[in-house]
Amino acid sequence: MKKVILDCDPGHDDTLALLLAHANPAIDLLAVTTVAGNQTLEKVTRNARNVMTVAGIRKTLLAAGADRPLVRELSTGEYIHGVTGLDGYNFPAPTVPVDKRHAADLIIDLLHANDKITLIPTAPLTNIALAIRKDPTIIPKIEEIVLMGGTNSTGNVTPLAEANIWIDAEAADIVFRSGVPLTMVGLNLTHQAKATPEVVDRIRKLDNEVARMAVGLIDFFASTYKKYFHFDAPPIHDACAVARVINPDIVKCEFVNVVVELKGTYTYGATVSDMEGITGRPANTNVATKLDFDKFWDLMIEALGSY
Ligand code: BDR
Ligand code: CA
Repeated sequence: MKKVILDCDPGHDDTLALLLAHANPAIDLLAVTTVAGNQTLEKVTRNARNVMTVAGIRKTLLAAGADRPLVRELSTGEYIHGVTGLDGYNFPAPTVPVDKRHAADLIIDLLHANDKITLIPTAPLTNIALAIRKDPTIIPKIEEIVLMGGTNSTGNVTPLAEANIWIDAEAADIVFRSGVPLTMVGLNLTHQAKATPEVVDRIRKLDNEVARMAVGLIDFFASTYKKYFHFDAPPIHDACAVARVINPDIVKCEFVNVVVELKGTYTYGATVSDMEGITGRPANTNVATKLDFDKFWDLMIEALGSY
């Protein structure tokens, strides 16, 4: 069982990532931490509480972290995730408490209290960068960082930049240069994880409240992905990072050099991935390239069926 902290900004796909991480027996989900991204910190933290309440997730700690990027102003993903950050389901009042510690401090505390922990960030990397900067002695205690973010092809906020990296590229740069073993599950991979109508039908048949919540959320996500990106079905980005931790065979990677662009006028936030090894810079990142679609959705549906 791998000890995991999920650092997220729920968020539709973050929610599915959380439900998968909590339900799968390969993962011991120690904590969920939140960061401003898809919506304000207040909203994404409320959303995490809402989801954990509906799913009956009680033993996993929850802490809120950074309410803005390290350097830039916050730019949210409201157009994709809605006014609440998690539109598409009517949540009852949340009962799950929020830990008093800042997410970065909780991450530091848990890393000191445990042998090795895998971090799964599915949001801007602000909390992770803050934790590493505040206490660099945690670096060797991190088993691996398996993040959803970046792309080795085209972006979704600019032609080359993906949202999680672009929102706080300075934080991403700190994480990519930290020396921690890193896996980048970027858009080039996650766009292979679409919740097709066939997939949604399978979830609908599960007939439990968590599955009904998932269907409501996926339906909303489908509508905004159609409106803004003309996608026929929404990609469930963040759950792909969790799937990689559960079973690396589901997400194939190539080990290459990746750097984060911080200065480009048109390329700020790009994850420059040297897939052909032409720069001579040392490899530092497993870049996800190929998803096993069937195995991914089997895993996800098994998880949703367990609630
Ligand atoms: C990422 O940005 C957010 O909208 C999603 O939750 C995902 O983490 C995709 O670019
Ligand atoms: Ca996210």
